[in-house]
Amino acid sequence: MDSKMGYQELPGASSVHDARRRPSLPKTILLALCTAVATATVLTCNTFLQSAASQRIHYVPLNAETILTRCAALGEKPRPPTDFLARDASDRYEPGTKSTLVKNARIWTGARNGTEIVYGDVYLDKGVVKGIGYIPEALYASEREVIVVDAKGGWVTPGLVDLHSHVGVSSVPELHGTLDVNSEHGPILPWLRSIDAFNTHDDAFQLAIAGGVTSVQVLPGSGNAIAGQAFMFKLRKTSDRTPSSMVLEPPHSLNGSSANSEHPMRWRHMKQACGESLIAYGNRMDSMWSYRWAYNEARRIKDSQDVYCAKAEAGLWDELSGQNYPDNLQWEALVDVLRGRVKVSTHCYEEVDLDSMVRLTNEFEFPIASFHHASEAWLVPNLLKRTRVVCFLHELALTEWGGTPTVGVFAAVHRYKRESFRGSGFAPRVLADNGIPVVMKSDHPILNSRYLMYEAQQAHYWGLPPHLALLSVTAVPATAAGMSHRIGVLQEGTDADVVLWDSHPLQLGATPRKVWIDGILQIGADEEGIVIGKGKEARQFQEVPNVPNWDKERKEAIKWDGLPPLAPTQYRSRVLLRNVREVTVRDPDAEDRLKTLLEPGELSDVVLDRGRITCIGKHCLGGINAEVEIDLQGGAIAPSLMTFGSPLGVEEIMLEASTGDGVLFDPLHGDPPSILGDKGGLVRTADALKFGTRNALLAHRAGVTYATSSLEKTTYFTSPAFIAGLSVTFRTGSAHALEPGAVIKQITALHIVLSRTSPSSLVGQASVSTQIAALRRLLLNGEPDDTETGHWFKRAAQGAIPLVIDVASADIMAVLLRLKVEVEQARGSLMKMVFFRATEAHLIADEIAREKVGIILEPARPFPQVWDERRILAGPPLTNDTSLVRLMDAGVTVAIGCRDAWQPVNTRFDVAWAALETNGRITRQKAQALVTTNLEKLLDIEGWIDEDGGDLVAYQGGSIFDLSRKPVAVASPRRGLVDVL
Ligand SMILES: *[C@@H]1O[C@H](CO)[C@@H](O)[C@H](O)[C@H]1NC(C)=O
Ligand SMILES: *[C@@H]1O[C@H](CO)[C@@H](O)[C@H](O)[C@H]1NC(C)=O
Ligand SMILES: *[C@@H]1O[C@H](CO)[C@@H](O)[C@H](O)[C@H]1NC(C)=O
Repeated sequence: MDSKMGYQELPGASSVHDARRRPSLPKTILLALCTAVATATVLTCNTFLQSAASQRIHYVPLNAETILTRCAALGEKPRPPTDFLARDASDRYEPGTKSTLVKNARIWTGARNGTEIVYGDVYLDKGVVKGIGYIPEALYASEREVIVVDAKGGWVTPGLVDLHSHVGVSSVPELHGTLDVNSEHGPILPWLRSIDAFNTHDDAFQLAIAGGVTSVQVLPGSGNAIAGQAFMFKLRKTSDRTPSSMVLEPPHSLNGSSANSEHPMRWRHMKQACGESLIAYGNRMDSMWSYRWAYNEARRIKDSQDVYCAKAEAGLWDELSGQNYPDNLQWEALVDVLRGRVKVSTHCYEEVDLDSMVRLTNEFEFPIASFHHASEAWLVPNLLKRTRVVCFLHELALTEWGGTPTVGVFAAVHRYKRESFRGSGFAPRVLADNGIPVVMKSDHPILNSRYLMYEAQQAHYWGLPPHLALLSVTAVPATAAGMSHRIGVLQEGTDADVVLWDSHPLQLGATPRKVWIDGILQIGADEEGIVIGKGKEARQFQEVPNVPNWDKERKEAIKWDGLPPLAPTQYRSRVLLRNVREVTVRDPDAEDRLKTLLEPGELSDVVLDRGRITCIGKHCLGGINAEVEIDLQGGAIAPSLMTFGSPLGVEEIMLEASTGDGVLFDPLHGDPPSILGDKGGLVRTADALKFGTRNALLAHRAGVTYATSSLEKTTYFTSPAFIAGLSVTFRTGSAHALEPGAVIKQITALHIVLSRTSPSSLVGQASVSTQIAALRRLLLNGEPDDTETGHWFKRAAQGAIPLVIDVASADIMAVLLRLKVEVEQARGSLMKMVFFRATEAHLIADEIAREKVGIILEPARPFPQVWDERRILAGPPLTNDTSLVRLMDAGVTVAIGCRDAWQPVNTRFDVAWAALETNGRITRQKAQALVTTNLEKLLDIEGWIDEDGGDLVAYQGGSIFDLSRKPVAVASPRRGLVDVL
């Protein structure tokens, strides 16, 4: 165990070592029975104590009353004040706020297990929802001024609640001075508090609100077993501007006030973690011991408090002479955990860790409110139910706790570490089927909290019923945090945190038109004149989206312990697709190089022979002796998608070095091994390629059949190598490199990463000016021709191979545009330059267009992660434009890329989002081009894919833009087969 771990004897605790644990009732006893027993016992004991006290008083300390008040409070549990919902004004009300009437809305209230929908109005007054449905004029007639908003039939929901966020403690743009999420001072730190690090200047607040998120639980990081106390915050900047004023229902102890009957005890929150994250303090056995040690310390204090109070309440003051009330500032929060007053959030991925934690809660008898990240929880639902409902009697106090924890998961962020390798999109549905409450969360800034509803959309796509998907980001997290009396639900008396959406919130791209927190409008003021929801006029956007049926796949996934086989069934002769509504193919001569063959509306048959379309029509004879027939149910056939930017095919698990290529030499920080005979150490990704990774096979099943990968990208925690290798383009579904068509282009592009020192890195990066100088030299004079570096940089300077530069800042891009001109003048060439990431490219869109530089945007929806990316164009509801439209309007060839190997699976969703966020300004064809022909053009592989027509994907039940569609087959003329998925 690390020496940082404190095993010191507790001051003040030594005198209570021999305190005996109270005997507990049989653990399996039902709560109801328990309550009855307790009530009877309390009455009996009270009578006994009263008579005992009257006979035995010898000595009473001066502060006896204080002690007795304290003792009396031991049995108290957090709860909202009685009649809380009858309040007239919120404690968060900002005087002067006008009341608001939202009329003509479809209100999903979050009540009745998410099944209640009210058609009508919502009235917000003094920070509180004062009416829902029919609002009699009398309710607001006395108000001098009421703001009236016509929802025009649009959807209204409660403000979203993000149960797992590091907003404010891991703020953006990330800077060295704002890394306050993990303390390095030991595995057990229950005395730390996230509020003490909460930065009110985080750029993420406004973005999250723009996604409808109004409340968050701000957790310390996961680097410690017990990382500290969490707090619930509302994201609205208050007039007071302080972190304290942003906390929702702060525990009274926070500012030294105390609970009383008018202000009963409030919930506290705590963050725990297990598994890999704790590696700094030893292995799994070490961390579980650190937990048991800590809880044992807390239990000793708790028990001695109980013994002390039992004596005090019995009037046995003589026996307490010289003893203070046992307490300890370091452990008091953990003692409160044992008293059932803390909503504990525990980050735990795997079966082994979940099992250890459940055992721990049963050993020390405390409840866990929620497991987070729980990648394998869906595989062990019964284990989660073994967090017992326990109750036992402590003198006069009845304590009850336990119950099945809520489980918080990501929709698609899986396989980035061993612990998450068995994570699955099916998990939310499986958990729900087992009666376990499900939460979708962001882990902001891991995912941008702004897209919390997108997590719910994906959960719905993979099978979670719509009402549970909406609950997973509203009432369920609110309940798990002990706040459902005021947030996550719209009913009379709850907080006036309200979102008015431009479409049904489970539709891809759903965007808030207006967001209120505490009745104060945060987003969507009319005078800002931002266009929101244009292009979503069709009625379908206001309905719950249809989604595919995944029953078979879900059962398979469970059967295979989370790792179902992913290889498709291959057909090498005829395949008949019926009821096809749309067919789009690549066409070198068409606009965007895409051509639609079927008019929307018609239903046709399509015959594929050895992966090639041989007939489209109603009477295809070729279909008669087809090997297999698939009903597309009005679905579509379209060119397969392509992905760029992630290490797909280069690594299997991001955090497991043994599954990847290893460390790339960085010529700016030392010479590569001399045996390379190349000062630049330029290497080929094709030499590092591995096939059959789960991410690649899942991408293939999602219709993403082509990938271009390089060896390095910007990372936020380490310093990337400057020369990122020569990329390779390959087929995601191939079995190995020697299979026909597996490798499409061995050497695709030359890659450079221009980066600054990462805020969390201690190693300084070579300066940007040094990096540009090196690039200039490599392109102008260059290394000797007989080295890889010399050869390929020369080719890039001549425009014979694309030069892809990972860069975010507009200033650096401007320098690169000048450098391009300089090189072209010197060499008389025309370079093929592409900026990847290009977060700030919108600022110099015209200049980029003039220099004919291409852009691959990453992420698809921008986020100001670091300083170089802070000038984002956020898109509706914050700005009219997105980077995409701004660049396309300027005439730039734009594509969409990604960063991590789990992301290619979601390429189709990213494109749909990108198109929807343009307010109808780009066609579907243009949107498809972003991840097909535009990428091919920028990476100069057009001929390589077109030659054989390229892969096609058959989608059942819709087009690539619909949540209802499911990829069912990949037709591959090059490989002469059809993969049935
Ligand atoms: C809500 O769902 C729970 C669990 O499925 C069920 O026990 C409860 O009765 C439901 N409540 C309502 C109001 O439908
Ligand atoms: C402590 O905060 C509560 C609100 O949570 C407030 O009502 C009270 O006045 C504060 N007390 C002090 C001493 O600041
Ligand atoms: C957004 O676009 C609308 C319609 O084109 C325009 O009226 C409005 O001024 C624009 N708003 C901003 C902030 O550019």
